[in-house]
Amino acid sequence: MRILVTGSAGFIGFSVAQALLKRGDEVIGIDNFNEYYDPTLKVARNAILEKEKGFTLVRGDITDPKTLDNAFDALTSSSDKSQIINRKSQIVTRVCHLAAQAGVRHSLDNPDIFLQDNVVGFNRIIEATRTHKIGGLIYASTSAVYGDNKEQPFSESHPVDHPISIYGFTKKANELQAYVYHSVYGVRSTGLRFFTVYGPWGRPDMALFLFTDAVMKGKTLPIFGHGKMQRDFTYIDDIVSGVIAAIDRNDPYEIYNLGGGKTEELMDYVSAVEKACGKEGKKEFLPMQIGDVVSTSADISKAQKMLGYKPKTRIEEGVKKFVDWYREYYGI
Ligand SMILES: NC(=O)c1ccc[n+]([C@@H]2O[C@H](COP(=O)([O-])OP(=O)(O)OC[C@H]3O[C@@H](n4cnc5c(N)ncnc54)[C@H](O)[C@@H]3O)[C@@H](O)[C@H]2O)c1
Repeated sequence: MRILVTGSAGFIGFSVAQALLKRGDEVIGIDNFNEYYDPTLKVARNAILEKEKGFTLVRGDITDPKTLDNAFDALTSSSDKSQIINRKSQIVTRVCHLAAQAGVRHSLDNPDIFLQDNVVGFNRIIEATRTHKIGGLIYASTSAVYGDNKEQPFSESHPVDHPISIYGFTKKANELQAYVYHSVYGVRSTGLRFFTVYGPWGRPDMALFLFTDAVMKGKTLPIFGHGKMQRDFTYIDDIVSGVIAAIDRNDPYEIYNLGGGKTEELMDYVSAVEKACGKEGKKEFLPMQIGDVVSTSADISKAQKMLGYKPKTRIEEGVKKFVDWYREYYGI
């Protein structure tokens, strides 16, 4: 297969691209290395991908038509010009769209950027998928579409009409547009609602990175919701296996929850960080932040049944792997 992975320098995009390359697929990556968090981490992830001969990076913005043309041309054309006609018919192509603005709280202060990257960006990607006749689009949605729904675990059959962040709204908009493109143009698409993904090479704006950084450097850990929050944490390798299963299955139109399969107390997550770091952190208990929800819990039975999805990694093990990576990466 040849797969265009958007957001290839990001946490999940990098991990998915690595796994696809490992099994022998060709990957065209696209990323604009934006500065929402330290881009040196993105450069380091990309440097690992660039070592693989099956990887090509198109550096640029998904909302820029020229960048997209370059990326979709690379996706659909043959590298061996003499065989362009033959190869074109043989290559199985997919788009795995993971580029986005992803911070819940950041979205409440910066709605314009979220509308531009997540809604206009998605529109450009799905339209290019249609016009270039790509075999299917697999894209990231989020547990944030469930907003503050009280009925848990969250199931794909529940209504998702009340997101409580601009971020959640943009992803719900993507799911709706994917439905229109499926029913009107027959574009195949699969939306994956990820639940709090964590693991090595994880995002510096997310809790695990912030907690580890604070414990290691003797800084105070900000614990929101006074520590009384629950999350369905999903280890990165489990997410990658779900994304790849969705790419291979290539449903006509589906939405799946991809969660860890177990809801954890936030304070147990903090304890796992302290255990992995070998020291206790100073904690400051703070109120909930706007846009945050008290609890997320995923019903993953649909993904289990249809994608063969089986999350395996428990937080003690996954958090330790993150902390080991953090120590090595930062030379601590
Ligand atoms: N990490 C999680 O817990 C989580 C949970 C739910 C959903 N998601 C979704 O999964 C996807 C990947 O998230 P992540 O955690 O890897 O985030 P990330 O920020 O690490 O990765 C996103 C990448 O997309 C790139 N990007 C953003 N806008 C772009 C644009 N306009 N053009 C080109 N590149 C652009 C960024 O530079 C970044 O490298 C996102 O769609 C996110 O909304 C993530």
